[in-house]
Amino acid sequence: MKTKVIIQGSSNSKGNTYKVVNYLNNDNKFDIIDLKVKNIGAFEYDFSNAQDDFLPLMEEIIEKYDTFIFATPVYWYSMSGTMKHFFDRLSDLLHYKKELGRQLRGKKMAMISNSGENDRKDGFSMPFIQSANYLGMEYLGDTHAWFSDNEIDNEAKNKIDEFRKLI
Ligand SMILES: Cc1cc2nc3c(=O)[nH]c(=O)nc-3n(C[C@H](O)[C@H](O)[C@H](O)COP(=O)(O)O)c2cc1C
Repeated sequence: MKTKVIIQGSSNSKGNTYKVVNYLNNDNKFDIIDLKVKNIGAFEYDFSNAQDDFLPLMEEIIEKYDTFIFATPVYWYSMSGTMKHFFDRLSDLLHYKKELGRQLRGKKMAMISNSGENDRKDGFSMPFIQSANYLGMEYLGDTHAWFSDNEIDNEAKNKIDEFRKLI
């Protein structure tokens, strides 16, 4: 049974993030969850989305995995909206599912981003690092992938190879 999961958050299930996720998972060490195919609504103060796919997903990943690797494209200098919804919904766990939220403590987090160029801006990883800190998770690190002729750039592949060893 795998103990590490890649959580893919792109608007395109089979786009560049998917290519990066597949390269990272070349030895099939990780399970993969595609947030795009889940019905996860925005955070609402009245928790009106409590019946969507978020809570069952959290129950599953908290039970099965000790390491979460977030894979996101760069959209407008930030994580994708799909991924941001997921992070916003972690707030549900701080309100009516506190016991579940506490079980994140001690788990590990890492992040891999991608865009067309090797020009990710400083600060991109900050929300991941700070969220891990806040939730009592250990942040293992992150890397960025980019593309040449629609394929992952060779230098970026080397970086992913190093990142794979970290996680
Ligand atoms: C809505 C949107 C916003 C984007 N914003 C940026 C950006 O701010 N910086 C950047 O370098 N690339 C940006 N891109 C390009 C994507 O980061 C890049 O094409 C990425 O590899 C797409 O991954 P995907 O196929 O999984 O969506 C943007 C693309 C989209 C669709």
